[in-house]
Amino acid sequence: MKLMDEIWQKAKANRKKIVLPEGEEERNIRACEMIIKNGLADIILVGNPENIKKMAKDLGVSVEGAEIIDPATSDKTEEYAKTLYEIRKNKGVTLEKAAQIVLDPLYFGTVMVKLGHADGMVSGAIHTTGDLLRPGLQIVKTAPGTSVVSSAFIMYVPGSEYGKEGLLLFSDCAVNPNPNAEELASIAISTAETAKKLCGMDPKVAMLSFSTMGSAEHELVQKVRTATELAKSQRPDLDIDGELQLDASIVQSVASLKAPNSAVAGKANVLIFPDLQAGNIGYKLVQRFAKAEAIGPITQGFAKPINDLSRGCSAEDIVNVVAVTAVQAQ
Ligand code: ACO
Repeated sequence: MKLMDEIWQKAKANRKKIVLPEGEEERNIRACEMIIKNGLADIILVGNPENIKKMAKDLGVSVEGAEIIDPATSDKTEEYAKTLYEIRKNKGVTLEKAAQIVLDPLYFGTVMVKLGHADGMVSGAIHTTGDLLRPGLQIVKTAPGTSVVSSAFIMYVPGSEYGKEGLLLFSDCAVNPNPNAEELASIAISTAETAKKLCGMDPKVAMLSFSTMGSAEHELVQKVRTATELAKSQRPDLDIDGELQLDASIVQSVASLKAPNSAVAGKANVLIFPDLQAGNIGYKLVQRFAKAEAIGPITQGFAKPINDLSRGCSAEDIVNVVAVTAVQAQ
């Protein structure tokens, strides 16, 4: 996919350091070799160095050039425990508890990112989305001016006339079950930024609903309307509009009838779903019925990038998510 080539080129041009906390896992070890060989990022593998080197040897791959850090023996572990304690003491975490928690590679990697010892983190080949996001939400937290961490899918429908030559961003399809209007506004702004940074798009953001510009009245519609107003007032420089039905968002002839004065209707390339049920179902419909390529979920809104993998991922998928994370860190 051309977009992924562009993301690789961006990652190579300004190399960042990415931590892989699942360092003792086969696909991560294979990915590490490919990432270093292609110059996409500098890599830190978290795990026991002897185990990792033995696994690499057995797999016939090299982890040369990667830094390997074991929380059990690292001289950084005490500092990381203290950092964790300082951040979470108001939530009842004691220093002793922090010393235990930080031995968990996901927490160790997250503190590493928090302190700037790594620029970003990728995990999830053997952990759930919640396992990965929770330490990130607790420790790295949201970027200034962003109220929620959310996610975006880059959807590519070959040959489609919609979006930017078949390329659209969908959000939020993976993190926030039921965002309120303020959170929905924040998700829209984050996704517009992701569209610019990762895809080089001029974002046209549609706030989706079952109503177009007042055609229906319901509290669910009102939420989207309020979110649209908030997002527009916070970022008047962005093209954001709503509430819009899906067809009015992307089909010019429908837009001309239903929202003739909108700068977004008929041209949307960023689709913001009102909640996670709609978003998660929506991206999977397009992926299956339109045979779209779905890259993601790409996490957005963290102060420093942390990205999730599917547990069914391949080593090549890990390489691509590392490239995306490296570009987000730039
Ligand atoms: N943005 C910012 N902060 C957040 C967010 C968010 N979206 N969600 C929770 N937080 C904060 C909380 O305020 C809390 O902060 P505090 O501890 O400092 O007070 C901290 O993060 C932990 O919050 P919890 O409520 O304990 O976390 P929770 O158990 O709800 O986990 C999670 C958060 C994992 C994101 C949860 O919302 C979730 O499971 N979402 C759905 C994930 C999912 O199943 N997706 C569908 C599958 S993915 C797919 O199909 C591609």
